[in-house]
Parts: sequence; C-alpha cells; structure tokens
Amino acid sequence: MRATPLAGPTSIRPCSFTPSPLPCSADVVIVGAGIIGLSIAWRALEVGKSVTIIDPRPASGASFVAGGMLGATAEVTFAEAGRVDRLRTARAEWDPFLDDLSRDQGRALPYVSINTVVAGVHRSDQLEIDHLVKFQRSLNLRVEQLGRNELDALTPGLGRAIRQGFLLCDDAAVDNRLILQTLLDVIQRRDASMVIDVVEHLERRDGQFVITTSSGVITCEHAVIATGAAPALNSSISLPHIHPVAGVILRLKARPSTLQITTTIRAIVNGRSCYLVPRSQGELVLGATSVERGYDLAVKAGEVHQLLDDARVVFPSIDEYEIIDAEVGLRPTTLDHHPIVEDLGEGLIVALGHYRNGFLLAPSTARRVIELLQKP
Ligand code: GLY
Repeated sequence: MRATPLAGPTSIRPCSFTPSPLPCSADVVIVGAGIIGLSIAWRALEVGKSVTIIDPRPASGASFVAGGMLGATAEVTFAEAGRVDRLRTARAEWDPFLDDLSRDQGRALPYVSINTVVAGVHRSDQLEIDHLVKFQRSLNLRVEQLGRNELDALTPGLGRAIRQGFLLCDDAAVDNRLILQTLLDVIQRRDASMVIDVVEHLERRDGQFVITTSSGVITCEHAVIATGAAPALNSSISLPHIHPVAGVILRLKARPSTLQITTTIRAIVNGRSCYLVPRSQGELVLGATSVERGYDLAVKAGEVHQLLDDARVVFPSIDEYEIIDAEVGLRPTTLDHHPIVEDLGEGLIVALGHYRNGFLLAPSTARRVIELLQKP
C-alpha cells in the first residue's frame, strides 16, 4: 500500500512511503520518524546496519509543520549562549548532509534561502535586536548591518516602518517537507522497514531490546528513541522527560504577479517574533507562536490573527496571498531546553528534546548517534 497524496499544492501533500510489516529483528530499531529519526535511519543504513523505524504517523508532526530554518545565529539568544558552538557546528554539518543526500537521491537539494534578514518594526523592537546582535557579534557570529536600500535589494517589499536591519550571514533554511520526503525515499531504497504502529512497551531481556507493538514483537541490538514531543513510551527503563511547546505555522501562496520573498525574514513586531521563510513556487511559511498548552493541536483563530497581523506589517504584500495550510507543531523540549543525545546504557540511545532546532541539529545528532551505535 502506498499513501495517496492529496490533490493541492505540492508542499501540503503528506509525505509518501511504503509501509512494511514488523520484522522479527533488526540491528537498530528507531522509534520515531520525524527529521531526527529519519536522519539517524539514513546514516545507520549507510554504515551497514539493518534498520526498522516505528511510528504511527511517519514524517508528520513538528517536522512536517516546521519552517526548516537553520538558525545557528538567530537562535543564539542570551539564555542560549552556552550552546553557540553546538549550533555553529550543527550548521556546518548541513553542507555535507545536503551533498550526501543529493548524491543518494540523484538530484540536487538546494537550500531555500542561504542567509536571513532580521529587522525590528518599532523603535523598541529595533533596540531589542541591536542589543542581541551586539551580543551575537561578541560570540563571533557573522552579522552585518543593513540600511534600507540594502534591505530593499535583498528583500523587496518590506513594510515602510522598517528602516534598518541585519544580515545573519550563516542562517540558511531548507524545505522541510522536501527533506523529509527525500529521506523517506532513500531509506526505503536502502531497505529500511517503515512500520506504522505504536510502541506499547520496551524492555531489555537476554542481552537485547524487546519492543512490543500492537502488531507484534521485534528484537534489536540497539534501540533509538526519537519520539519528538510524543507522550513518553511505556518502558521498563526510565527515559528523559519531554514536554511540548506548541507553535502555529501558516503556509501561504503568492497570487500571480504578487511580490515574493527569496530570503528568510525574521522580525520583531511590538515585542513579538515572527518569521517568513521562502518556498518554491511562490509559497512561504509564516511562523510561529510559542505556547505551552500540552498536546492541543487546535489552530486557534487568535493565534492566526496575531501571526497575520504581524506579518503584514513586515511584508504588506502578504495580504494578497492565499492561505493554503495552518497547523500546530509541537516542539519537543527538555526541562532546560537542551537536547539529550546519549546512550542510556547497553545500547538504548535517546535523541530527544531538539526544541526549536530539530532541522538545524538533525545532521549532527545523526552523526553523534552513529558514533554511539559503533562504540565497541
Ligand atoms: N525554529 C523556529 C521555531 O521553533 O519556531
């Protein structure tokens, strides 16, 4: 059976893949088929492991909703300064990741933008950005000041209230849905099993992991937990606490002859953050709210209102765009917002809590997990 894509704009079709029955055993079982689980699966296959992935809804959830920004500078706020090296390294790993994935897929996978403009609308917003940029520069992050003429050259159509901004030279973005689909394609071509199921129980027995799903039992040498913000697994081994932080994201499409963006724009409007990320064929991603409200996936009118209100000040042409998608993504978060990528013992590996940076961190998390898998 192959998932049937819906009619409509390419970017809002669900990803397609061929579901597999549950095998009896595998070298590695990965629980969770978001950007983290799929990246790990692909790299594990490359080093010759047999891989089974289990997820009730592969390539959906936060990874499908995400903007795909690689915000190695923008995400370095004062509270995140301790992670600057990790984010910088993660960004550097995207070039080889995309090259390898393009080679495996047989077609070039481009970035959708190769840098990012950041701007404040009101005086207080500009001051907030000035303050942060000064700090980011002190950490040797590459940020250049832009006057209005330079902004116009990079991103025609910015709102008149924006007088100046900054270029975050290293903050790129990828098309999240294209990357997910490509990973699904290459891992299935390499014979990974994609099992549509829920893990009911995980335990260690007789020197291996025993994973029970509603359709049966699989044993493996290594189990990798990459479940994003999903509720905790029922396991005899205790796993880190992860909680969801909801974000509403809209996808919009330019009408014929409407101005389009080709550079990611991050803005502060009256103290609220928003971002506009380009996609192919005149589409853009507008995000995101950030609210702790459990597993509630309702797209609330007030949040959509807020995003659109802010976005039309930043880029007034958005008023002419068609709304093609509105969804909530649940960012998976640890208690201190730091991801946990480690071997909890005897080959139970967790890759959890990537919070606002799932796409940015995916290549480096996958590399780290492969190192753990290969540890003698
Ligand atoms: N990385 C952007 C967000 O989490 O909204």
